[in-house]
Amino acid sequence: MVSVTAMSLPITTERLVLRVFTPEDAEDHFAYWHLPEVAAYVPWEPGDRAQARASLQKRIESDHLDDEGSVLFLAVELGGWVVGEVMLSWVSREHQQGEVGFALHPGAHGRGIGSEAAREMLRLGFETLDLHRIFGRCDTQNTASARMMERLGMRREAHLRENEFFKGRWSDEYDYAILQAEWRARSDQS
Ligand SMILES: CC(C)(COP(=O)(O)OP(=O)(O)OC[C@H]1O[C@@H](n2cnc3c(N)ncnc32)[C@H](O)[C@@H]1OP(=O)(O)O)[C@@H](O)C(=O)NCCC(=O)NCCS
Repeated sequence: MVSVTAMSLPITTERLVLRVFTPEDAEDHFAYWHLPEVAAYVPWEPGDRAQARASLQKRIESDHLDDEGSVLFLAVELGGWVVGEVMLSWVSREHQQGEVGFALHPGAHGRGIGSEAAREMLRLGFETLDLHRIFGRCDTQNTASARMMERLGMRREAHLRENEFFKGRWSDEYDYAILQAEWRARSDQS
């Protein structure tokens, strides 16, 4: 059975270490998690330290992918500082589908850190889990997220109109996706 466990981690890139969360990450996790500008387009509401601890615990427990429905959260560590997180969700075994997600502290934005980390989640999904297609969703107002998914080679496949009542307003959503064959073709070029 294919799976991603602590055995396959951490992942090291040019600048980053992607690893499972630990209780020692409480301060760094709180530092980005509680900021309204980070939470504006993600599913959580910014909260206090007790709520942040519950969120961190969820991430600590989401440390493997062993079947559909499982979710992997990895801390994005830059020079010893956890600047944010990336997520890969195994959505369907039958259809070999996965979803990526990401959030970084604003102090780490604009340096290509998000794409460097998310690229590894695509690699994990395609190479280790043999997913056929990985998608990502974002609010149409979240231009940083949309640009990043385009930079990763993901295709905008849909613009959903007011599909969610999100944080007090009807929001539009872009759906991006990339197929394994497309990802392999891009990887061959670089
Ligand atoms: C979405 C998010 C993760 C993007 O993170 P990021 O690291 O800034 O994104 P990228 O990797 O695409 O880098 C972006 C910029 O860095 C620049 N950059 C600098 N060095 C770079 C490098 N080595 N490689 C790539 N880009 C680089 C790019 O030119 C790009 O600039 P642009 O956005 O003006 O075109 C971040 O904005 C975030 O955490 N937002 C809050 C949470 C959120 O909304 N998450 C997504 C929910 S759908």
